[in-house]
Amino acid sequence: MSVNREVKRITTNTLQKMKSTGEKISMITAYDFSFAKIFDAAGIDVILVGDSASNVMAGHETTLPITLDQMIYHASSVIRGVERSLVVVDLPFGSYQGNSKEALASAVRIMKETGAHAVKLEGGEEIVESIKRILAAGIPVMGHLGLTPQSIYKFGTYTVRAKEEAEANKLRNDARILQESGCFGLVLEKIPALLAKEVSESLAIPTIGIGAGKHCDGQVLVMHDLLGINTEFKPRFLRQYLNLHEQVTTAVKHYIKDVKDRDFPNEQEQY
Ligand code: KIV
Repeated sequence: MSVNREVKRITTNTLQKMKSTGEKISMITAYDFSFAKIFDAAGIDVILVGDSASNVMAGHETTLPITLDQMIYHASSVIRGVERSLVVVDLPFGSYQGNSKEALASAVRIMKETGAHAVKLEGGEEIVESIKRILAAGIPVMGHLGLTPQSIYKFGTYTVRAKEEAEANKLRNDARILQESGCFGLVLEKIPALLAKEVSESLAIPTIGIGAGKHCDGQVLVMHDLLGINTEFKPRFLRQYLNLHEQVTTAVKHYIKDVKDRDFPNEQEQY
């Protein structure tokens, strides 16, 4: 794998160029300084401070409970570890759907208090006023369509979205509206690969897929899933690159044993 080290800092323009040249965009979630520093140094293009922090960091069942203050805490930690990647932060549930002024206030807090580079909002036509107001303030916006987890109680299930023609048509229309509004990119979550291909090819802005097949302009995974920290979540779309759960368990068991056996610390490990 070659990481383009000539690029000092990834910007929304870089992502646009990557789409034009056919270079796929890599994106991963992060929620803290230490992992963000590793991912950035490894050459990831985009770090998403996802509201999936609600699940994987706080242990909630859904993304709904996480607050704007909590997202700001995670995002400001991530930013301190990043030199090169573009950092995108999710606006949490309830911080932008109500009215566009509130949406702008939430996005401004994220940008001012974290130093992040862009925000992401879930939804299409119904939130376009909020998106336009945020963009008018000079804040880059990424869209998110398909399985939008903040609407899980409306969907009732985490299964693939837009399999039916009516929902697929709404998604096509929403994608066009988000592009016309000025979004710099679009996450497509858990939709049929052929639909994602069609949308990706019809848009000038890059699409980033999760469970949306190989034709998207980039891919995103939640770090806990990719690294095998969370072993209960095994959807078809997930490729697990490590079994960190097993490795950490083995290491900690080893440490416990060494402490109990009075093996740790030894003579060299003390002052
Ligand atoms: O919150 C998140 O992690 C996300 C990704 C799944 C795209 O929105």
